Amino acid sequence: MNYRHIYHAGNFGDVMKHVVLTVLLKRLMLKDTPLCVLDTHAGIGKYNLASEEAWKTGEFRSGIAALLKGSTLPEIFEPYRAAVRQCGCRPEDVENPGWYPGSPWIVRHFLRSNDRLVLSELHSEDVQTLRSTFAGDRQVSVHHLDAYSALKAFLPPRERRALILIDPAFEVENEFELVVNGIAEALGRFSTGVYAVWFPVKARRPVEVFYDDCRRAGIGRMLALELLVYPDMQPERLNGCGMLIVNPPWQVDDELRSVVPVLQERLGREGGGAHSLLWLAGN
Ligand SMILES: C[S@@+](CC[C@H](N)C(=O)[O-])C[C@H]1O[C@@H](n2cnc3c(N)ncnc32)[C@H](O)[C@@H]1O
Repeated sequence: MNYRHIYHAGNFGDVMKHVVLTVLLKRLMLKDTPLCVLDTHAGIGKYNLASEEAWKTGEFRSGIAALLKGSTLPEIFEPYRAAVRQCGCRPEDVENPGWYPGSPWIVRHFLRSNDRLVLSELHSEDVQTLRSTFAGDRQVSVHHLDAYSALKAFLPPRERRALILIDPAFEVENEFELVVNGIAEALGRFSTGVYAVWFPVKARRPVEVFYDDCRRAGIGRMLALELLVYPDMQPERLNGCGMLIVNPPWQVDDELRSVVPVLQERLGREGGGAHSLLWLAGN
């Protein structure tokens, strides 16, 4: 396993993923009943932007720094913006940009006293860092476990209400296939879960195959969001990213429809980019 998320912390992919994550959490928390969040590829929890690794790539500059620069963000971004600031993120400070929150930190920030967060991470060093981030926290459990085994081990949750974030590193060639099979199988055991998957957009074709495979696997209601940050597609670079949401909560599509254009406006490079939101099945 070569992938270390510290090199990419706070980049445009993280921004899109974490904004969508907060919108989903807020919607799901409109109900008082307990919620379980399973984060299958958890990473280390939060990231020091002043570290050598984050500094070297500087990806956060065209991500969280670009988002926070300029005029006030629309209200829908406020929970995310406030969480990022509370984690200590100040990317405008060149000398001391602070910490960027990973998905576990963000989810933990919003948990109510009767909610629970389950984390799995396969990297043996990263899981130790993650453990120390949440040491002594009774609402968070950390597992050194493969993501797809975690889907089997922890679903269905006892709360019968859950958000499952699937955020692979896409280091292995068949990751899209693993995701489709993993969700299809998980839905067999827990059909009402809300599943949110992050994926990279390099070339168009693999994304279209992924969508087709999801439809073919009979995955029910599905919403797909995409954010492209460059004016054109060059297959070998990360042109953008997307999120697939299975069983999206009621009206979340309308909320997210207002989010993606703002992300494009703030994070698009060279004056370009594109965004889309479509129901793949079951609207
Ligand atoms: C994109 S990062 C996760 C970032 C995190 N979700 C966040 O938003 O802050 C992907 C993580 O998955 C881990 N990983 C890779 N393959 C895995 C697997 N099969 N099961 C669990 N974790 C895995 C990597 O070590 C890495 O920390």
